[in-house]
Amino acid sequence: MQPVIEVQNLDLGYDDVMVMSNLNFSVNKGDIFIVMGVSGCGKSTLLKCMIGLLVPLRGKVLFNGPQAGHSQMFEKSFWDEEEQERQNMMRHFGVLYQSGALWSSLTVGENVALPLELYTKLSKQQIQEKVALKLSLVGMKGHEDSFPSEMSGGMCKRVSLARAIALDPDIIFFDEPSAGLDPINARKLDDLILELRDSLGATIVIVTHELPSIFAIGNNSVFLDAASKTMIATGDPKALLADSKDPRVIQFLTRGVKDEQKGK
Ligand SMILES: Nc1ncnc2c1ncn2[C@@H]1O[C@H](COP(=O)(O)OP(=O)(O)O)[C@@H](O)[C@H]1O
Ligand SMILES: [Mg+2]
Repeated sequence: MQPVIEVQNLDLGYDDVMVMSNLNFSVNKGDIFIVMGVSGCGKSTLLKCMIGLLVPLRGKVLFNGPQAGHSQMFEKSFWDEEEQERQNMMRHFGVLYQSGALWSSLTVGENVALPLELYTKLSKQQIQEKVALKLSLVGMKGHEDSFPSEMSGGMCKRVSLARAIALDPDIIFFDEPSAGLDPINARKLDDLILELRDSLGATIVIVTHELPSIFAIGNNSVFLDAASKTMIATGDPKALLADSKDPRVIQFLTRGVKDEQKGK
């Protein structure tokens, strides 16, 4: 297993308010890594720090050097690098935010082309080809000329995903990707995330509290606990469910099941 991200002794917060402290975990290449915990515990805050939007109060986020064939692990500590190098590193991340946030005045094709126009020197023709490829990868082939307002929530999510993978990222970060989707479209999105991990050879980090997604696609995780303001578990969610002795972890991972039984 090749670690791609290593979080070390990380403390996170806003001004004087501590949100999470003493986080330590690794994300391995090809993982679908779940950041889980109850609403408000600090999942998005952790994600913001990992993608370069929030300076940690303490600790390190180490990334394996992105260059192909690089043998030296963890030579880059994101927050210790210069601004320019951080920008370079961020080019290897794809991010799908909670809202999806497509530009409503741009067509689907223009939305997906935007990062390619901003960050590459590809010709118009090459960009069009890449846009078509990314749209077909997310099942939105031929929708270049549609506007976001003409599409369902599930279709907008797919287009946002096409935009997030436009620059062939090594790591894709998702914040609550299935928020606002019905269960069927949420399952389809899970399947798509698995497919993309395999076809792009990417590593995936997902913030979610959706149990079906956690068990269907996650193979590694960190569990953030709101009360103690730190992590209380890391590892494969299925193994945590089977082996964890911590009642807080078990309660979180079985909460839907219990609710259903209560309802019967
Ligand atoms: N920009 C901000 N400024 C101050 N506090 C914030 C900010 N964003 C989030 N918080 C607080 O940090 C805590 C964790 O929030 P968040 O990371 O969004 O939780 P989650 O994603 O797990 O629901 C919450 O108490 C929230 O109110
Ligand atoms: Mg959040």
